[in-house]
Amino acid sequence: MEIIIVADADEGARIVADQFEQIVREAGSTGATLGLATGSSPLPAYRELIRRHRHEGLSFAACRAFLLDEYVGLPAGHEQSYHRFIRDNFVSGIDIDDAAVISPDGTADDPAVEAARYDAGIGAAGGVDLQILGIGSNGHIAFNEPGSSLASRTRPVVLAESTIADNSRYFETREDVPVQAISQGLGTIGEARRIVLTASGQNKAEAIAQMAEGAVSARWPATSLQLHPEVTVVVDEAAASRLELADYYRHTRRIVDHHTGTGHS
Ligand code: GLP
Repeated sequence: MEIIIVADADEGARIVADQFEQIVREAGSTGATLGLATGSSPLPAYRELIRRHRHEGLSFAACRAFLLDEYVGLPAGHEQSYHRFIRDNFVSGIDIDDAAVISPDGTADDPAVEAARYDAGIGAAGGVDLQILGIGSNGHIAFNEPGSSLASRTRPVVLAESTIADNSRYFETREDVPVQAISQGLGTIGEARRIVLTASGQNKAEAIAQMAEGAVSARWPATSLQLHPEVTVVVDEAAASRLELADYYRHTRRIVDHHTGTGHS
């Protein structure tokens, strides 16, 4: 796991966008398969990618994308559906084919059947080349709450009380927040060829410390990422504030940047 501690959101956005740009350019006309996340954490990176599309000719026309999750009960057009969120905040600003941006159907009669169909669809498309992730304050990724099997597949899940509280800021009242979702599993997410997780703020500090340095355990679902060989974590100082090895991560970055001559600032 490569941990990059950034000075501000702009620097983080550039680093995450660089990863997307590299995958998209490498795939060329074949098109990359992107794994997209909702929530506030990826928004600066999405804005940077929209800027690169508009001003630097970065094209997503050949790409396809899978979302991590969707609320059960919200139709695609609902203001707070993730189907809508990703269009409002990213997809409408780039040239990807809208029909190639796929998410679980939160209104399916049988969410378990829909979840299994969705999981198989990711595999049938050849898997995800680059998955972006945020992290919940309780250590969830997608909607894999504490207690999720490390091998879990896409399935219906019940949201933790703390997640409902965290996400209620998007809804008029707490009672409006759906209590269930269809979420890619930890096993599903782990099949993405590369993963970039981004987080900011003090309320993510414990989750980030557990994810990077805690014991691998269903108690902190993001610890499943320790088993993946290609994970980059981009965090600000506040989210990094409980990392015991923060100095080592900074030192590593200085050495790597020195040797590659890159430098991210
Ligand atoms: C939601 C999403 C996650 C997201 C998390 C953090 O519950 N299902 O995919 O990572 O919340 O959200 P934010 O980035 O807004 O803190």
